[in-house]
Amino acid sequence: MITIVYAHPWDGSFNNAMLKETKKVLNNNGQEYTLIDLNKDNFNPVMTQNDLSVYGKSGFKDPVVDKYIQILQKTEKIIFIFPIWWMGAPAILKGFFDKVFLTNKIVSFEGKKFTKVEKALLLTTSEFTTERLIKELDDPIKVVEYPIKSMGVSKIKWHNLGNIILSEKPERVEFLKQINNFVEDLI
Ligand SMILES: Cc1cc2nc3c(=O)[nH]c(=O)nc-3n(C[C@H](O)[C@H](O)[C@H](O)COP(=O)(O)O)c2cc1C
Repeated sequence: MITIVYAHPWDGSFNNAMLKETKKVLNNNGQEYTLIDLNKDNFNPVMTQNDLSVYGKSGFKDPVVDKYIQILQKTEKIIFIFPIWWMGAPAILKGFFDKVFLTNKIVSFEGKKFTKVEKALLLTTSEFTTERLIKELDDPIKVVEYPIKSMGVSKIKWHNLGNIILSEKPERVEFLKQINNFVEDLI
């Protein structure tokens, strides 16, 4: 099964255009997918005292965590779509890793595997150029890659549309066209 994890609140965003294009490519290829739209789900990314009280035993208190865990345990290929915010992922995605990526349910730090996820595709956008994200500042994608690698996923591909604020329409259209290749490479 393919799962898309989407973290952007505004339907008019470029990230939303990337989501639409990704769905289109999957549909064109006859691939079924599950969408986790964190903002539409009103996911609460904050780890509360209640949540943390059972975290050490890989437990959870937020019922939506159970739903997400069940989806992830059936997932073979995963696509994350989000903007770079403060050199990392939006808080809602960070909280998804905090609350859902539980040890011995989703991730392992001892080389065990609790999901079927083999491949991951990360589609992002940033105000800085991609080169500047990587070279001048700390490569922001590492923070997102770490929980994904902890699922035992070694094949992770990242594609970023940098310089998005100054980008002209043709560059945006070109990036959307490339999503076809990015997704077909994953599936
Ligand atoms: C809260 C916030 C933090 C941001 N932090 C960064 C950043 O650290 N680096 C960067 O290159 N762009 C940053 N940006 C710019 C976003 O990456 C950019 O607005 C977004 O990728 C545009 O895509 P969209 O139209 O789909 O929202 C930030 C934007 C917001 C709203």
